[in-house]
Amino acid sequence: MSTAKQVPESFDWAGVVDYAARYTHEAPETQYELPGVTEELHQAPCPAGGDHAGVPVAVVPLWHAMVTARLNIPTGDPAALRAAQHRLEVALAEVERLYPLSPAGLLPQVGWGLPYFARYLPPSMLDTHLPRSAREGSEGEPVLIEAIRFPRDPDDLVVEHNDVCFHFKSDFRHHVDEVIAALFSPGESILNGIPVENVSIGDLVTVTSIRRGFAGRGMPRRVGTALGIPGAENIPAGAMLFMGFTSSHVHGLAAGNLASYETVPGWTDCTPGDYMAGGANMHVSHIAIELERWYSLAHADRLQRMFTPRRTESEEILSPDQCPVTSTFRTERDADVERFGLVGHNEQMQFLSRVEDDTTTAYGQVIPRGTTFFLRQDFDTTENPFEFWVDGPVSALPRAGVHFIGMGPSAQHFHLMRREMDSPELAEAHHLPDENVGFTDFLVNTHRQNYCLPPRAHRCFPMAELL
Ligand code: HEM
Repeated sequence: MSTAKQVPESFDWAGVVDYAARYTHEAPETQYELPGVTEELHQAPCPAGGDHAGVPVAVVPLWHAMVTARLNIPTGDPAALRAAQHRLEVALAEVERLYPLSPAGLLPQVGWGLPYFARYLPPSMLDTHLPRSAREGSEGEPVLIEAIRFPRDPDDLVVEHNDVCFHFKSDFRHHVDEVIAALFSPGESILNGIPVENVSIGDLVTVTSIRRGFAGRGMPRRVGTALGIPGAENIPAGAMLFMGFTSSHVHGLAAGNLASYETVPGWTDCTPGDYMAGGANMHVSHIAIELERWYSLAHADRLQRMFTPRRTESEEILSPDQCPVTSTFRTERDADVERFGLVGHNEQMQFLSRVEDDTTTAYGQVIPRGTTFFLRQDFDTTENPFEFWVDGPVSALPRAGVHFIGMGPSAQHFHLMRREMDSPELAEAHHLPDENVGFTDFLVNTHRQNYCLPPRAHRCFPMAELL
């Protein structure tokens, strides 16, 4: 292992083609904002009588891959960690010079697991720089904690302990493939047709898994039927995800930096200007979907389990309106359960994913009641469970699923919200049959882990430069 390896000098690619000038996207301060992602308007009436025209939907990048890894760097060796940090910074900078930061190029994200912070950084540094929960019930806990098992998780669910998780997204699959090969294979490689020498960090890590997938209109049905996945023939032709409904409603995704540790008051002690400001908790899980059973339900039964039992949109509407006035908070959710004996997926959690009152953020922006501050960037997969996994078996039998990725202010926030998806108390109090608890009964969770997704400025080995 050569953590102090010399990094070859970088060639000035901007002198050949300056992608930053051609694709005029500023790099954001967070890692989770995605420059260049476009929006389109879907047609659906606003059930709350809002006068907005159409339903805005984010057209997310088509191809996705995550690579998780353990670090091969010795602990207690600050110089080795700083050298590794420098190499990753150089590597990602080179990647972003050759592929613009855009769905047309590549959008990379790097999250860091609890084992990284616990093994490589002194507790005093974490006390100073890792935010803490400010919520009653978890106040004072670091915002990054090990993932927990939820009431409806199967016994064999794996709580993972990776040091690092890379997520790459692009509209072009070969961009993702090339970057993975360049970063994790030894020696020289090719990026965008150009030989590069300074991108490999393969000796610094042992890759523990590779997880791939897609998100795009028509893709789930096309891929699912081509692979013969039972139930795939019933996926609506234009659906962006296996379960049929659009899950990238602009109104259901945190805008700007709303998902960061510090932005929405009350969740953590992080403030603007702190080391981790612009960072967020990132929960990563793999969820298999029982597609055949899901599509054995009638359209109205799927619609109501996905949203609320009050929804009446017709079958052609895959993107029912999600604007702030459609939000369901706790009182209305409980009334729905009482009246219909059923609770929908997004109403299970909106009282935790959206602000219940007009709120002034830490940056002085006033966001109206019903604004979402949780961000989902998940994508569909047919892996069972991953393309590659060092710690367990991988089956060649395709299985419909989701690599779920959710960003928000703390792991504690995620845990509160995810527990609501299982709704144990609500189900018990109202004697709900399993299949009336959102759509959780149609899912099988196989893996989970929480990561810290630092701000872009600290995306490489956070805090190593402070050692
Ligand atoms: C198979 C897995 C899943 C599917 C297909 C799915 C799909 C959806 C859809 C269609 C919506 C409503 C549309 C939208 O807001 O864009 C939604 C909302 C939501 N989902 Fe999921 N979801 C899945 C898993 C999860 C998980 C594991 C969580 C974690 C807690 C989660 C949290 C949320 C939240 C909080 C909302 C409401 C966002 C808001 O309106 O403020 N989902 N999901």
